[in-house]
Amino acid sequence: MALPVTNGSERGTAAEVETLEIELLLEGIYRRYGFDFREYAPASLRRRLWRRIHAEGLESISGLQERVLHDANAMESLLLDLSVNVTAMFRDPSFYVAFRRKVVPLLRTYPFTRIWVAGCSTGEEVFSLAMLLDEEGAYERTRIYATDINEVVLDRARKGVFPLDKMQEYTQNYIRAGGTRSFSEYYVARYDGARFARELAEGVVFAQHNLVSDAAFNEFNVIMCRNVLIYFAQPLQERVHGLFYDSLAMFGVLALGQKETIRFSPHEPSFEELDAEERLFKKVR
Ligand SMILES: C[S@@+](CC[C@H](N)C(=O)[O-])C[C@H]1O[C@@H](n2cnc3c(N)ncnc32)[C@H](O)[C@@H]1O
Repeated sequence: MALPVTNGSERGTAAEVETLEIELLLEGIYRRYGFDFREYAPASLRRRLWRRIHAEGLESISGLQERVLHDANAMESLLLDLSVNVTAMFRDPSFYVAFRRKVVPLLRTYPFTRIWVAGCSTGEEVFSLAMLLDEEGAYERTRIYATDINEVVLDRARKGVFPLDKMQEYTQNYIRAGGTRSFSEYYVARYDGARFARELAEGVVFAQHNLVSDAAFNEFNVIMCRNVLIYFAQPLQERVHGLFYDSLAMFGVLALGQKETIRFSPHEPSFEELDAEERLFKKVR
């Protein structure tokens, strides 16, 4: 017996079915692999799912569900698409200028500091931070914890080798970020790319950590998390703000960068603005 088709226009129905398929896919991924994308911002999630559907030669979200549930390699490719790993050295150079001026002086007041770079992708941001701290004479007294949901990008980050053809752009970023040396001192050109000085990674621990499902793991003086929360829907953003609040020492700094904010979040009253443009916030209560 055919089920009666209920109310709603054809377009409305198709959109509703797609939403349902996406929910089922995300639930399946969570239960099969433990990656929880259920509260990511829907519009960008949908775009990325369709990109993968086309890349896999499939035609529907349900088709993608079938593929990823049975094929861990397809899941790995989807994870790369969903986790959006775009990054750059000294990305948004003005952020580093503000960090140097407003955060480094605070770091100098401690004998030892811990910095968490959450959502570090392939590590360009971490190496940039290490250079800045080294130039400010603060790196030796710092331990950086660089985490990401995605093991594949972490493996790349650990290598500290970045595309040679990016070095011109990164040199410009470095200069605009207030770098005090010559950028080319930091790397040697090899056949596989620009290999950055080993010492830069000596104070860094790279580890997998999922902001959605993993707990606080240390107490930090600075948490840097840029271009990550934009992919999360508001309730999830607020939960992660809570995780950052719990993970920061009193007077610690939350560095979100230009695209994100804790304004309008329930945690806003616990922070004081250090830099409005670059979204640097100090935990004050
Ligand atoms: C666009 S990149 C940003 C990289 C760097 N922070 C920057 O600003 O250049 C976003 C990163 O967040 C990571 N990410 C996405 N969801 C995450 C989660 N739930 N937990 C931890 N990292 C996550 C992605 O894997 C990706 O590497």
